[in-house]
Formats: sequence, C-alpha cells, structure tokens
Amino acid sequence: MNVLIIGNGGREHALAWKIKQSPLCFNLFIAPGNAGTASVGNNIDIAVDDFSALGKYCIKASIDLMVVGPEGPLVKGIRDYFESQELLKHILMVGPGQSGARLEGSKDFSKQFMLRNNVPTAKAKTFQVHQLTEAFTYVETVNSPIVLKADGLAAGKGVIICESVPEAKENLREMLEGQKFGEASVKVLIEEFLEGIELSVFVLTDGNDYVILPEAKDYKRISDKDQGLNTGGMGAVSPVVFADVAFMKKVEEKVIKPTVTGLQKENIPYKGFIFIGLMNVAGEPYVIEYNARMGDPETEAVMPRLQGDFLELLIATAQGKLKGKSISVIDNHAVTVFMVSGGYPGDFEKSKIIEGLNQHDDTLVFLAGTKLLGHNVITDGGRVIAVTGVGATLLEARQKAYQRIASIKWEGAYYRSDIALDLQRLEEGLH
Ligand code: AMP
Ligand code: GLY
Repeated sequence: MNVLIIGNGGREHALAWKIKQSPLCFNLFIAPGNAGTASVGNNIDIAVDDFSALGKYCIKASIDLMVVGPEGPLVKGIRDYFESQELLKHILMVGPGQSGARLEGSKDFSKQFMLRNNVPTAKAKTFQVHQLTEAFTYVETVNSPIVLKADGLAAGKGVIICESVPEAKENLREMLEGQKFGEASVKVLIEEFLEGIELSVFVLTDGNDYVILPEAKDYKRISDKDQGLNTGGMGAVSPVVFADVAFMKKVEEKVIKPTVTGLQKENIPYKGFIFIGLMNVAGEPYVIEYNARMGDPETEAVMPRLQGDFLELLIATAQGKLKGKSISVIDNHAVTVFMVSGGYPGDFEKSKIIEGLNQHDDTLVFLAGTKLLGHNVITDGGRVIAVTGVGATLLEARQKAYQRIASIKWEGAYYRSDIALDLQRLEEGLH
C-alpha cells in the first residue's frame, strides 16, 4: 500500500513511525510533515487543507490509503471532497466526512448527539447573541465554576472556566457580542463543571464495529502542578492507573457503544478515530468532548504500546471490515514529555538549532514543530519534541523519558518536570 498521512505534528511522526513498521506499507508520504516524518517517509510540501493539490498528488503517487491527523481538514470536508471526485473516490481514508466530524467541529451538535443517545455528559444549554438576556438569566442558575464553550473550532482555546457569575457574564458578552472566537463563538454553551480526573479514550471504528486503543492522560497546562496557561499538551501517559478494567467496562457500555450505535441510528457514516475526552466523576465516566482524530501528545504514548500491524487495522477501518479484528496492547508503560520553545504558549522564537537528537537508546523521540535546515534540525513551532520513555513500570518509563530529555538541547527549551508524577504517586499509594 502507498500511504499518505496528513499533518505535521508529533502525532503524525508517531503514526508514521508505527505505520512504516508494517510489511503492508510500501511508500509512505506525509503532507506537509516535519523533520521527524522526513526520517520515516517522504514529506510532501502541500498544506493539510489544500484538497485539490492533495488529490492531484494522490493520483501521481498512486496513494491507496490516507490517514488524516488533525481535525481541520476533517471538519472542512476532506473525505467529502475525495468522495466527490471520480479519480479519487477509490482512495481509502481513515477519518470521517463532514457529518461525522461535527462531533468535534460543533460542541452544540455533539452535546445534542450525546443527549439524544444517552451518553453521560455535563448538563448544558446553548445560546446565540440575540439570546444574551436569556443567557444571563440562565447563568445565574448554574453553580460556579461555570464552563463556557465556543461551539466551533477555536484551536483548543474555546473553553473558559469562570469562577463566578459576573465573570461568566463578562465572558459571555465577549464571546457572543464581541465574537471573541470569531465564527466559532456565534453559539456558546453554558455547561456545568465536572469535578474529577480526566482521561482520553481512543476508539477506531468503521461505523459498525470498533476496537479500543490504549487510554491515556494528557497534561494541558504549561507549568508543573497544572498551573499556568493551557497548551496543546505538555505530555501524556498510558496506561492510566485509575482506568481499571471495571471503569473501562463502564466506558465501553455507557459511552462507546451508545456513541457508535448513535452514529448508525443517525445515518452518520464514520470510518476513523473517535477520541473521547472523559471525566471520571467518582468512578462514573462523563464525556467532556469528542474529537474526530487521535490526540497529540497522547498518540506519542499510545503508539509504542501497540503490538502487531497497525496499518492492517487502519486498512480494515477504511474498508469497513473491522468486524472480528482486535488489537494487542503490550503490558508496558509509556510516558511522553513535550519539550517546547521558551515563551510558548505565548510568543516564542523559532529557528534554534537542536542538539542531541542523534543518540540512540530505548526512548522514542517524535519531532513536532521542527524543520530541516541543511544538516541541522531547527525549531519551527511551540511544541517541538515529544520524548517517550517506555518501560515495564511507570517509574522506569518516566526515568527514561527524563534522562533522554537531559541530552537534547536548544536555546530556551522548556518542559514540565512532573508529567505522570500524579499517577506514579497514585500507584505508589495503591501498592
Ligand atoms: P476542550 O477544549 O473541550 O478539550 O476543553 C478543554 C478543557 O476544559 C478540558 O480538557 C477540561 O479540562 C476542561 N473542561 C471542559 N469541559 C468541562 C466541564 N464540563 N467540567 C470541567 N472541566 C471541563
Ligand atoms: N491532547 C489533546 C488533543 O489532542 O486535543
């Protein structure tokens, strides 16, 4: 098979790394890719949402399967475009069409979908600008903290947690009247706050059957102890100690099954990943959000735990032949720590030369915001390198990740020092 992965993050490097191991993979391309994907396959300089150029390239390179990494092109309708073109519609694709991608692209749609299909989630109500007065009245009935969510895609910034009613009103006005998030905040959800521990669950489905990938937990804040600004993700860990067999059974019965049957009932074809952001509230799973793709940095912790031919599973997904398929998960631990540019998630400088990448040991180094400049790899984004340590225990995986990080350097590099420490302490307490 000739495979094209769409995207340029650490997630895409990890997917490329795993897919390339398959004997079924002939040529591997990544559009646009980064310095890491260039070491696994061929980078193609085409933007993720330039469907026409991607289509032309697919014909030229005889692409058989596309794996769409980020949400942007899915929500914009990459599958719908390919299916509408005579010369492209035979190409297999992992990633839903526009109707399925609404699970991520519209928080109002996904909330209503959950309610229609009895998927446990936080109570919420949606308002538009002409309903500002009603929104203000409603917000007074909600206990603080109050969660406000822009309906559309807002680059991970569309959720505001307000400590008081006045703060919520101010933000509601900014979102609805001031169009704080542009088109994305034309509708805003006012949602009750869920108290618990978060967990990311990943499902691969062909719309009828599904396999569950290893779960992970990500660390979104910039500083240790979950302080400071939200980021795209500063690290991840898999497995997650509290996601034991009993809890995951609840997730499957109460969340995954009704989600997949809900898609069927509502005639929404879906071939791709469903990333379910969950809150464990006193042992019960509640859905915070759906995403129509894998998580980043969770993918960098999940891929090293998969045994066997992942590409075969992706092909089966895209062909609608997942029935009877399963996935073997290695009984190990993976801890991923992101090294980021100094200043991220605010302003930061790019083009710093990265040193220490060419040593080899038993950690995995997935590159994200990087590019090649001659023989050097230079920084080219906020999140730069995801280092994954893999070990028989969580402690070992953490130690390996942090030891490896100590040998990678560039001016201004920053990382959190407490990724997975909460779970390590939880585990120590359990034993
Ligand atoms: P999202 O953009 O939907 O991923 O939300 C960003 C983050 O906001 C989530 O990862 C949670 O930490 C938090 N969050 C969203 N909804 C809720 C909620 N109802 N209760 C508590 N925290 C929430
Ligand atoms: N790690 C969260 C995300 O990919 O959205």
